[in-house]
Amino acid sequence: MKQKTVFVCRECGYESSKWLGRCSACGAWNTMEEFTPARESKQGFSKLEGAAVPDLPIPIREVNCDDVARRLTGIREFDRVLGGGIVSGSLILLGGDPGIGKSTILLQVCAHLAGSAKVLYVSGEESKHQLKLRASRLCRKKETGMDSVYVMSEVNMEAVFSAVTKLSPDVLIVDSVQTMLNPELDSAPGSVSQIRDVTMSLMRLAKGTGTTVFLVGHVTKDGAIAGPKLLEHMVDTVLYFEGDESRAYRILRAVKNRFGSTNEIGVFEMTTGGLAEVDNPSAALLAERGEGEITGSAVLCLMEGSRPLLAEAQALVARSFLGTPRRTASGFDTNRLSMLLAVLEKKLNLNFSTQDVYVNIVGGIRAIEPCADLGICMALASSFLNFAMPHGILFLGEVGLSGELRSISNLERRLSEAEKMGFTSCVIPEFNQKKLSQNFSMELFAAGTLSEVIRLFH
Ligand SMILES: Nc1ncnc2c1ncn2[C@@H]1O[C@H](COP(=O)(O)OP(=O)(O)OP(=O)(O)O)[C@@H](O)[C@H]1O
Ligand SMILES: [Mg+2]
Repeated sequence: MKQKTVFVCRECGYESSKWLGRCSACGAWNTMEEFTPARESKQGFSKLEGAAVPDLPIPIREVNCDDVARRLTGIREFDRVLGGGIVSGSLILLGGDPGIGKSTILLQVCAHLAGSAKVLYVSGEESKHQLKLRASRLCRKKETGMDSVYVMSEVNMEAVFSAVTKLSPDVLIVDSVQTMLNPELDSAPGSVSQIRDVTMSLMRLAKGTGTTVFLVGHVTKDGAIAGPKLLEHMVDTVLYFEGDESRAYRILRAVKNRFGSTNEIGVFEMTTGGLAEVDNPSAALLAERGEGEITGSAVLCLMEGSRPLLAEAQALVARSFLGTPRRTASGFDTNRLSMLLAVLEKKLNLNFSTQDVYVNIVGGIRAIEPCADLGICMALASSFLNFAMPHGILFLGEVGLSGELRSISNLERRLSEAEKMGFTSCVIPEFNQKKLSQNFSMELFAAGTLSEVIRLFH
């Protein structure tokens, strides 16, 4: 029988029977790759005993789920992102920029699991020697207990599977999916067919044996996991490791989780001893904020999953010498910034047309929530009108197109976090105040419009 080949888009996973210069689904150029789906018998793991037994339908109440065990790694931030520990038999994809610390965190997980589980770390990128060097740097104290951690420097999936059969580890780490290779396929490592095949066989391994598999994935320059999007569909959990390499803070984020809530984050700090957990991220983010009154700075609160996070928004409005004044935002959407500037201009007669505007959310945090609007507007107004913001005040609220303050979610949680951090007053939208059920010792200013808030301070 002639083997059927298809062409798959590297960016979005779109399949076509003929080659296209431009993907008709996502519009990317030169991303179609020839893909020959491997036949069942050819796939690495199906050769392993017991893995390819056909599954028969049974009534759902007869399914035994007592054995869905969660194993705590002991790294609290990591466990929390996974929804309370790692689930046996799950396949977890960890993506992130080069050098962000993917291998580091996974090696730390190995060290923490060492006493309670057998772990196999397969690296296609580093030699055993390199792994050992890193392990001794990260886990100086733990090294004696790392007897149940096995390492292997290998790219051939067949060798990996035979090692897995021999060792039967509880946790398998594969670093990275782009370097692994099924030698029965003709394509090069990192191609769509290899990535798909490797992931599929690891998924069968996880589901068939109950081994938890961590898979490292490189990301492309626009931040998506390299290889088609369908990689994300195939796995149970997708974690992204984010952060600025120049800064020490790293954020681990779950963007998909079949065993827990998404958008939960874990905050780490890169130190010489590896990634250290940051217990109080709000304090860490506000640590460098000056005491006393500051111009062009406001504190806002972002919900990251179930966790409120206080962050500082800084703005600088300066006379422009350019034909088109500059609008630069880091950690904030530039379109949203343009909208806020338009509202400030129209409703408060602040003329930004001759001004360069820079906005920065300190600490490499991204303020995606609309709740950040009021804080950003206040930082902008404070820099433009040159008034200082009192210390210990927090700004919460979404700014609407007509300059009104719109209500926000989770107000109580945000206020509790601010109180814990020693904030003494907070500006909140009027609508929220009406629904407030809890009492807070901090002073609350309820406002209906943005101009009311600015009048309070200027
Ligand atoms: N001796 C050291 N002291 C402090 N930090 C170090 C040291 N060695 C490495 N690092 C940090 O560890 C980072 C590398 O981490 P790691 O190798 O885990 O990244 P990665 O995400 O696996 O990268 P890649 O995509 O290349 O595999 C470096 O960028 C650096 O910040
Ligand atoms: Mg690595």
